[in-house]
Amino acid sequence: MPPLYNLCKTLISQGKNPSVILGFNTADEVFYEEEFKALGADVFVTTVDGSHGIKGFVTDAFGKVDYTYFYTCGPMPMFRAVNAAAKTSGQFSFEERMGCGFGACMGCTHKTKNGYKRICKDGPVLEKEEIIW
Ligand code: FES
Repeated sequence: MPPLYNLCKTLISQGKNPSVILGFNTADEVFYEEEFKALGADVFVTTVDGSHGIKGFVTDAFGKVDYTYFYTCGPMPMFRAVNAAAKTSGQFSFEERMGCGFGACMGCTHKTKNGYKRICKDGPVLEKEEIIW
């Protein structure tokens, strides 16, 4: 979330009005909600157990925002759900297990329309349209 916080700060400094959806399992896990709000962003929080914000997953809040592009970071199951639910282009910042971390072992590769990409060297951000799920 910290990189997305900095992205949000940059977008606001450029005069844009980003919406932020933060997803957690329970209210105890929620963090950065107040920090994003302090930037002036529209913030929606989802929790799987419904103990804070909207009950469910981040995709359950998609209907609350009007967006033309998205940036996301999180685990692969969430990525698959976001990819299926998103109506626009966007970017996915991968959290991949890494062996070497500098492009040698090919342990972090992900298949794309442009061949295999190493998340550590070629990523971690991939465009929605290039990813093969
Ligand atoms: S971790 Fe070895 S190539 Fe990415």
